[in-house]
Amino acid sequence: MKLFDVYPINDINIVKAEGSYVWDDKGTKYLDLYGGHAVISIGHTHPHWVRRIENQLNQIAFYSNSVQIPIQKELAEKLGKLSGKEDYQLFLINSGAEANENALKLASFYTGRKNIVAFTKAFHGRTSLAVAATDNKNIVAPVNETDNIDFLPFNDEEALKNYFQSNGDSVAAVIIETIQGVGGITMANKSFLQLIRQLCDQYKSVFIADEIQCGYGRSGRFFAVDGAGINADIYTMAKGMGNGFPIGGILIAPHIQPKHGMLGTTFGGNHLACAAALGVVEVMEQENLVENANEVGSYLINELKKIDAIKNVRGEGLMIGFDVPEEIKTLRKDLLFQHYIFTGEAKPNVIRLLPALSLSKQQADDFLKALKEAIHSLTNKKEAVEA
Ligand SMILES: Cc1ncc(COP(=O)(O)O)c(C=O)c1O
Repeated sequence: MKLFDVYPINDINIVKAEGSYVWDDKGTKYLDLYGGHAVISIGHTHPHWVRRIENQLNQIAFYSNSVQIPIQKELAEKLGKLSGKEDYQLFLINSGAEANENALKLASFYTGRKNIVAFTKAFHGRTSLAVAATDNKNIVAPVNETDNIDFLPFNDEEALKNYFQSNGDSVAAVIIETIQGVGGITMANKSFLQLIRQLCDQYKSVFIADEIQCGYGRSGRFFAVDGAGINADIYTMAKGMGNGFPIGGILIAPHIQPKHGMLGTTFGGNHLACAAALGVVEVMEQENLVENANEVGSYLINELKKIDAIKNVRGEGLMIGFDVPEEIKTLRKDLLFQHYIFTGEAKPNVIRLLPALSLSKQQADDFLKALKEAIHSLTNKKEAVEA
């Protein structure tokens, strides 16, 4: 049997990982500034996380949500404290798309309405409603197409106000990434987020913060949207939550009340996933990783801004993007195959840095040195061709 070939892949077989490093089957060591797409939060194979999972595996890995699962409550309590949302409620699932799917469904149940506002260049996942709220026609199958989603221009306050003036009473939810990831690391303005909050309050719509990529400490705050001094009604989370163990969750404000049967899942909240997620929050707290993301991230952003050859450095914490001009467009591949550094990409020609939140300043410096060398050899090559 062949694999269903949907991924353009690099010909690298990673067999070992530790902290911010991974090794391939030939023994080559790579610095990982991609974190397997923003998933590695506390560092690969962190010993506390490994122990947590091992211990749980020896007790019980899974039982369904038909019995008491105290480790879910333990996770909810620790997550409430770490995120500062102690009065919110936690619903657990297995992935980011599921988190958004459930958030949108819940908003519709709660308001009794159908319309969803999403924004240009948004990415919210690949399940039916999540993909319909994603601004990429290529991944929306005919069956996912719906008139229930309206896309408005990102950061356009006038367009948002006008839309609500005409349609506010039918809006179930507004869903937004405070820092768009797949969209190329584009930051929502604070005033835009505050306006969404104000309009959702005025029209009794639900504010959904998609924090799947920008959340869980990555921006240097627990939730990126916190920077605007507002609360969302629902926060969706996944990626960094399990440090690679599949788990997702939604935090739900107290005014949205549950009913039995309203949402449900077989695997969501299983013992093993909760142990992995608890391992993550414990390490985040013990090692002050949110603060580290803020410090090392600010340092990286400042240093990157000093490099003339790359353009438009942006982001917050350890969610950083910059544009790669056409003349040095092979930069990302050169970093990977000549300097052994994984980075992420966004189209067209954007490099994304999404490392573990434990990235050290030394590792940031190692990257900066390699980046300058890679740029230097690319520009020299170009000059040699032109001469
Ligand atoms: C902002 C955002 N939302 C949702 C998702 C979907 O998450 P998953 O791939 O776990 O379904 C992603 C994945 O990249 C994402 O970046």
